[in-house]
Amino acid sequence: MSLRKILTSVRVPINVFFILDSRAIHPSYRIPWWRRLALGWKMFINTTKIPTATPYQAHLVMALKLLEMSPDVPGDVVECGSYRGGSTANLSLICQIVGRRLRVYDSFAGLPETTPLEQQRFAYYPGDYKVDLSEVQNTVQRYGAIDCCQFIKGWFKDTLPRLSTPVVLAFADVDIKSSLHDCVKNIWPHLVEGGYIFIDECHRIDYVSLFYSERWWRTYLNATPPGLIGAGTGLPLGKYYIGPDTELSSHPRQKPSTAAYARKGISSLWDYYPEESAQ
Ligand SMILES: C[S@@+](CC[C@H](N)C(=O)[O-])C[C@H]1O[C@@H](n2cnc3c(N)ncnc32)[C@H](O)[C@@H]1O
Repeated sequence: MSLRKILTSVRVPINVFFILDSRAIHPSYRIPWWRRLALGWKMFINTTKIPTATPYQAHLVMALKLLEMSPDVPGDVVECGSYRGGSTANLSLICQIVGRRLRVYDSFAGLPETTPLEQQRFAYYPGDYKVDLSEVQNTVQRYGAIDCCQFIKGWFKDTLPRLSTPVVLAFADVDIKSSLHDCVKNIWPHLVEGGYIFIDECHRIDYVSLFYSERWWRTYLNATPPGLIGAGTGLPLGKYYIGPDTELSSHPRQKPSTAAYARKGISSLWDYYPEESAQ
């Protein structure tokens, strides 16, 4: 057995243990440790079989948040951006355990128009990540729990405004600012109190600034910004990422590839202005 395989077989159970070790898991989901390990191992294996743009640790954190949520809170899980279905398969496994529907939104035609900056700096072009719906469905059928899933094909700006059910957790892995805008603007009003929006690309300061922009939240949602847990580096899930992303090439062994989340009910509004409080 190679050193890499030995390290993996040790690291995966340790990661599962640290991520799923929670006293807040709801009593109706008190799953024994062997099942938690089996779930984490299956999620890890899925990401080795399906080319997946996000790590199993990020999927496990979303699993944890769903296990901690009371089943009495009604709501679906929403995924925006499925690519080949790796994250979809893993999210469907946890949705099966907690008895929630997974609504999967994607163009199944790849990325829409991208800006010159997104093309030059991040090499994002229209059509990137294009995978047919049928291929994603076959993948989820094979590696996940397809009975929980509903697939909604189209551009987010057209499909998400028709969302009408409550949402307990959303995963928006959508790469570009216009897509993140469409996702947060349309999902947030349906998010239950204490619900989550997870994102990828959490290391990109320009991208995550949406979650701190007082102007954006006031303009589109008449709310204060929620902030983002994991902004700039991602959740600390053993990826050894220090940043900033502009210096990534100097640190080839670091990966800025975990996730970050905003939670409804948390506000990041800065309210200390000494000149004003003195008046
Ligand atoms: C990075 S991939 C998702 C990766 C996947 N979550 C994973 O972990 O493997 C981004 C996906 O978002 C979809 N996407 C991005 N912007 C979109 C938009 N405005 N409307 C519909 N789909 C979009 C793309 O088609 C692509 O499948």
